Amino acid sequence: VAFNPAAERMFGYLKQEVEGRNVAMLMAEPYATEHSRYVQSYERTKEARAVGRIRSVAGKRKNGEVFPIELSVADVDIDERVPYGAFIRDISEKVRLEARLLERERLASIGTMASMLAHEIGNPLNNMYLHAQILERRLKQHRDVCGEQVFRPLESLLGEIRRLMQLLEEFRSVSRRQTLSCHPTDVSDFVHGVLSVVAPDALQRNVTVDSAVGQDVVGVMDAEKIKQVVLNLCKNAIEAMPSGGTLRVASRLENGEVVIEIADTGVGIPQTLDVFEAFTTTKPEGTGLGLAISRQLVKAHGGSIQFASEVGRGTVFTVRLPADGPPPE
Ligand SMILES: Nc1ncnc2c1ncn2[C@@H]1O[C@H](COP(=O)(O)OP(=O)(O)O)[C@@H](O)[C@H]1O
Ligand SMILES: [Mg+2]
Repeated sequence: VAFNPAAERMFGYLKQEVEGRNVAMLMAEPYATEHSRYVQSYERTKEARAVGRIRSVAGKRKNGEVFPIELSVADVDIDERVPYGAFIRDISEKVRLEARLLERERLASIGTMASMLAHEIGNPLNNMYLHAQILERRLKQHRDVCGEQVFRPLESLLGEIRRLMQLLEEFRSVSRRQTLSCHPTDVSDFVHGVLSVVAPDALQRNVTVDSAVGQDVVGVMDAEKIKQVVLNLCKNAIEAMPSGGTLRVASRLENGEVVIEIADTGVGIPQTLDVFEAFTTTKPEGTGLGLAISRQLVKAHGGSIQFASEVGRGTVFTVRLPADGPPPE
């Protein structure tokens, strides 16, 4: 292999580290293993797969990182030691952009479908809820004749309708474009609000709730939207602790960022699970939208959302928001 300075930068090897070695060291699997077989077959048959064309394959940097490249190979025959020339473009950035666009498109189409659903299903659902409530109120005036056998099914009817309304609401919040209304907000204001919303669920599952919300953690944000994010994360945390544990919410200011941490001692997230992907869920009644929406909202603020998790021990989600608010577009 002969190597130019641009290739040194791309792969992280010095010229002298690769010269004289097999080019397969720069390839990720399965290309590395296939390579020598492929070269032999090309020399025998001159039937080309890479030569004279542009292919997308995977390269491997010195530090082991696998990255996408566009490769074209030419039969150069400069001298005997270097029969082929490879022209390589690092397309990591292109691939990342494409993935982001794809995700945006996907959320946008969910949003479009959601507004249709919200209309077609939401209205009758609201009506059903209203009527069931009226029934409940009227029947309660006749407790003497209507007992448990009436109120129990009615309660379950109301509960199921409420659940559907919530589901619809979740769909509706995946919108085509998140428009924010940002104001200076003290994070502790809404963290306590969120914790009181999830308190009954926590109690029911034996989850201890603990907060370490810093004083004067103020940032410019859309408080309603970030509250929604923290609520989604707290709900997930509680749902990850079916037999009890601790939910801990902490916030602080760090390097010009508002940092909010939601930690649980729950089941943890397996590495293979792409939790931010819309519709990824492991729950029988989950939508798989909570984290997709949360990430959309945090990104709209110019922030980031990440997690660290250990299966069987617990998970920490960290939200970071620029304290001065979203950067101008
Ligand atoms: N704190 C957590 N601990 C363990 N697993 C989690 C946690 N948060 C999210 N997950 C996993 O990510 C999936 C997606 O979460 P989410 O987008 O909120 O959808 P949903 O809660 O409807 O399943 C969950 O089904 C769960 O498997
Ligand atoms: Mg969820």
